[in-house]
Amino acid sequence: MKRIEKVGEMDSEARRLVADGKSIGFVPTMGFLHEGHLALAGEARKENDVVVMSIFVNPAQFGPGEDFESYPRNLERDAALAEKAGVDILFHPSPEDMYPENSSIRILPGRQADVLCGASRPGHFDGVLKVLTKLFHLTRPERAYFGQKDAQQLAIIETFVRDYNFPLEIRRIPTVREKDGLAKSSRNVRLTAQERKDAPAIYASLREGARVLRETGDTELALGTVRGSLGSIPGAETDYAEILEYPSLRPLSAESREAIIAAAVRFSGVRLIDNILVPLERKTSC
Ligand code: PAJ
Repeated sequence: MKRIEKVGEMDSEARRLVADGKSIGFVPTMGFLHEGHLALAGEARKENDVVVMSIFVNPAQFGPGEDFESYPRNLERDAALAEKAGVDILFHPSPEDMYPENSSIRILPGRQADVLCGASRPGHFDGVLKVLTKLFHLTRPERAYFGQKDAQQLAIIETFVRDYNFPLEIRRIPTVREKDGLAKSSRNVRLTAQERKDAPAIYASLREGARVLRETGDTELALGTVRGSLGSIPGAETDYAEILEYPSLRPLSAESREAIIAAAVRFSGVRLIDNILVPLERKTSC
């Protein structure tokens, strides 16, 4: 596995690979890798000649008072895991090289970013689109891999890539979970032992809501179930719990084909997100 730190070197390496007719599969991450990230890399390995993974804790997507400083980092451990997962090139640039100056151009997501995490983390998705624009240009992928775990991020990126004709395909990868249902996340290591025991109740609450939604079709009842059940997790505070249409993230309507039940929950020092997609059987008119 090749390790690249310099933006200029990544750029020329990707140009060379594309000129040689190689397809590049790209897996952007912020590191502290777990099986979720590795599932993305595994899929990329199957579908492309060359797999590029980036590890960059992107300052642009963290707000003031968020966990940029304390975000877990361990490059050597990550490099070993990436190599084992079949990554060919690990790109880990410095913030100074990625953002040598504060660009006067901003990239703003639309209304899909006004709800869920976008509502509680203003500017977060601006920062995600900013870094991905640069990373897509630098790595020249044919396909880029994203987890359904960050469903709002995925929906916004799909819209961005489609509306602005980025020449690549976005591939969706299902959420990888611990045996007890907790979605794998780099932030899980920062839970206390007690919080780690309580955290699987997040997914259990979402599943309970999904069951009610499927059985009754009653969005308010399903949402009440999720909120009630999240509210009874000891030591946890619900940041949001919502049911929306996916991937538009608009309110559900009679035409909606798929719903997302999404929640963010805050333990003492850690904010966790999770979601579940529920296909909707709507009567079609003939
Ligand atoms: P990060 O949180 O490191 O996640 C990198 C990718 O791994 C994302 O596409 C995320 O959805 C996926 N992922 C995380 N946990 C997962 C799980 N349990 N199962 C499946 N996939 C999972 O998301 C980011 O970084 C950043 O915002 C980034 C896109 C790299 C831009 O900075």
